[in-house]
Amino acid sequence: MTEQSGDADGELEARLAEQDSFDPPESFVEQANVTDEGIYEAFEEEWPECWERAAALLSWDEEYETVLEDEDAPFYRWFTGGKLNASANCLDRHVENGARNRAAIKWEGELGETRTYTYGDLLNEVEAFAASLRALGVEEDDIVTLYLPMIPELPIAMLACARIGAPHSVVFAGFSADALATRMNAAESEYLVTCDGYYRRGDALNHKQKADKGLRGVDHDVTTVVVDRLGDELRHFLGASAHDYADLVAEHEGESVAPVARDAEDMLFLMYTSGTTGQPKGVKHTTGGYLSYAAWTTHAVLDVEPEDTYWCAADIGWITGHSYIVYGPLALGTTTMMYEGTPDYPDRDRLWKLVEKNGVDIFYTAPTAVRAFMKWGTEYPERHDLSSLRLLGTVGEPINPRAWKWYYTHIGDESCPIVDTWWQTETGGMMVTTLPALGTMKPGSAGPPLPGIDARVVDVSGEEVEGGNAGYLTVNRPWPGMLRTLYQNDERFLEEYWREYSDEDGDEWVYFPEDGAKIDDDGYITILGRVDDVLNVSGHRLGTMEIESAIVGTAGVAEAAVVGGDHEVKGEAVYAYVIVEDGQEGDETMRERIVESVEDAIGPIARPEEVVFTPELPKTRSGKIMRRLLEDIASGEELGDTSTLRNPEVVEDIAASVEQTDE
Ligand code: WT7
Repeated sequence: MTEQSGDADGELEARLAEQDSFDPPESFVEQANVTDEGIYEAFEEEWPECWERAAALLSWDEEYETVLEDEDAPFYRWFTGGKLNASANCLDRHVENGARNRAAIKWEGELGETRTYTYGDLLNEVEAFAASLRALGVEEDDIVTLYLPMIPELPIAMLACARIGAPHSVVFAGFSADALATRMNAAESEYLVTCDGYYRRGDALNHKQKADKGLRGVDHDVTTVVVDRLGDELRHFLGASAHDYADLVAEHEGESVAPVARDAEDMLFLMYTSGTTGQPKGVKHTTGGYLSYAAWTTHAVLDVEPEDTYWCAADIGWITGHSYIVYGPLALGTTTMMYEGTPDYPDRDRLWKLVEKNGVDIFYTAPTAVRAFMKWGTEYPERHDLSSLRLLGTVGEPINPRAWKWYYTHIGDESCPIVDTWWQTETGGMMVTTLPALGTMKPGSAGPPLPGIDARVVDVSGEEVEGGNAGYLTVNRPWPGMLRTLYQNDERFLEEYWREYSDEDGDEWVYFPEDGAKIDDDGYITILGRVDDVLNVSGHRLGTMEIESAIVGTAGVAEAAVVGGDHEVKGEAVYAYVIVEDGQEGDETMRERIVESVEDAIGPIARPEEVVFTPELPKTRSGKIMRRLLEDIASGEELGDTSTLRNPEVVEDIAASVEQTDE
């Protein structure tokens, strides 16, 4: 770098460091999908009919009669009386409207091989696989588990399920065998679609081994379909109840399968997510409300148009991928990208190479990825022409202003708005974010609630806090993309989300997402993070209880407490404080066994950053573990008040052993 450009960079950095608000670039505004500032007021005036605008983005087999039914609140029902099919909305109607040859999915494998499915191709394969599923016995309302990595067969299987009215339950491929079994048992799912393996950092990973192990933990019979992703690279054998995906598709090639008209309120899919207690929660999303909301937010917030090449670099195993790789973009008939592998393979410019090669218009990722890019340095994006980009987005965790500005400058070239979108598995789609052509952006703050969304920041008693203050985020009105219940557990649904802030006679229902937040005088909401025992590691949601129970399951462990500690790239990292049984050693072998237990129970994403052995945990006089103190220790922060502890002396000891492990 020359002296001069070094100075220019320095000046830019200095200028940006001081700037705390950014207006959407004119070039973006001119072409945006939503440009009418009156939209916020219009949605208020027309609520709940405003949501017909979302429903109007879909094709309905039968018109709905009522926009919102709230008699059984908080078991709200949207677009009742309406019938539609999600796969017909994502495929058939585009093919019929002349988009048969438009690319629907552009996929790239980690080793560089590519596949493009036009809308016509995708419809054919979805029909062939839908016919296959039927032939295997899948009926409407049977739950089909999909345990697949980022290969095109995953969205194909999702749409095939949707076509025949069989809800899917996608289990993230990085989850362990045990996690698969837990989810299949909970959903009583008798069908599994999986694959032999996939590539990670150039290595062929054996996925089938994990699936097989998981199946041994399932307490009922399962029919399995296996996609052969790796060919000769990894040989696999099919058991008696297993079928080869390609054979099935070849056998049913050319068959047409009429999309089943589903009630708006029929389940489209289940998605298991972590909560405060050990058992994952089966979040239920519906066909009409969810799909309308996914399509609407993709249109309004991500500004997607059919001609775009759009890339959400998430995994379909999470809700982000469901809403914004598969359902939202395909419902709008755009080209959605999928990449199989890691962002730094073979080099740290892999994503930018993909953007350049495919002329990506819109790019949506997680702050943890942005922090990694920032750490790697500007030379990687600088190797590529990123001028095709017009909008950037983030999701999953708070983005600190420095990372935001880096993304804005070095990826967006100061000419792309950034949408920082707050939402959750449960909300189905985005809830709090600026609209990209309308809102001034304030780095670090997600923005105001979307039109029609009544999100507030309240104090413990549910009163709204004044601008400039912090409190708890609540949502005080229903929305179409909301979860309808937790699968087969209405009581837990009420308990987890509605009891905290709703009034006791049930006149007013308030949804509690379990996030802390701050609001400013302009109504911009800054998310502060979870207030329950849920961690956010690299934008992935993990329950501390799940991790603790895995650790306590390790032979020789007496007690464990898991908390999140600050981490430069991951945002939060897993810290485990462990007490071993008398006569056991807290040594390296024990540490390895603990890490292995966590990987077996959940997966490598939950791997503890540090395992700290301690003779005691800090406890209050009533015997509750003081998690806040453990968090402070993990983050290397000044320790707060320890006077309410029964055993204050233990804190120093733990802090000392953390420092030791750090060395
Ligand atoms: C939790 C939900 C939404 C899909 C990915 C995660 C945190 C999400 C933001 C954001 C700050 C965010 C919240 C939320 N979160 N988006 N833009 N800023 N925090 O879905 O696994 O259900 O996790 O992620 O804490 O509750 P999820």
